[in-house]
Amino acid sequence: MLKAIIAPSMLSSDLANLAWEVGWMIECGVDWLHMDIMFVAGRVVFISMKFDYWVICIDIGSSFSHFAPNLTFGAPVIESLRKHTPAYLDCHLMVTNPMDYVEPLAKAGAFGFTFPIEVSKGNWQELVHKIKSKGMKPGVSLMPGTQFKRCSHLYLESENPVEMVLVMTVEPRFGGQKFMPEMLDKVDGGLGPSTIDAAASAGANCIVAGSSIFASPILLMLYPCCPRL
Ligand code: DX5
Ligand code: ZN
Repeated sequence: MLKAIIAPSMLSSDLANLAWEVGWMIECGVDWLHMDIMFVAGRVVFISMKFDYWVICIDIGSSFSHFAPNLTFGAPVIESLRKHTPAYLDCHLMVTNPMDYVEPLAKAGAFGFTFPIEVSKGNWQELVHKIKSKGMKPGVSLMPGTQFKRCSHLYLESENPVEMVLVMTVEPRFGGQKFMPEMLDKVDGGLGPSTIDAAASAGANCIVAGSSIFASPILLMLYPCCPRL
């Protein structure tokens, strides 16, 4: 029997009915919701005068430093959702400046705050400290191309360790991508009935699944969600 909890990635749910979808997940026994927070860095570009007024456009072209080419939701959505559920809202940040989101997400009622090791440069200790000081649980995520050893110092030697390592088995961007089995020796994404056992046997104890759940909740029937570990 799978000894892991299943954390539905709400990015794959019907976001126009998010509170209803969350209620459905809670009915299915879920109490850990994975909230993918992505933002593409952009710039405001003033273009030439036209019809006697400035036209402003936001250029989020790929020429800017961005982390995931997608724009999902932020603190206001977490805040609204918090009014509908006591569930563990675990925010997975795919942004280049996670420090800026600690305060707003804590205030909004997030419980988990997972930041990408790839962008935390040298200030991850300060980031972990700030996350904890706001009452949230810090986690670190690893993109498929990042070696595990890039983050071992965040929980092995650290006197201020993270509490979760999110091994991404898809690239940070959208739900519904193909599971990358080569990540098993490192395990978030592309998980479903045919891949979940491999991930759990590889040692994952919290399985993030989006499209496989919202396409058909069979996964939640097959693996009744264990209570939060
Ligand atoms: C990918 C996200 C994952 C993804 C999981 O950028 O971090 O949480 O939404 O969804 P599936 O299970 O569809 O890959
Ligand atoms: Zn995620």
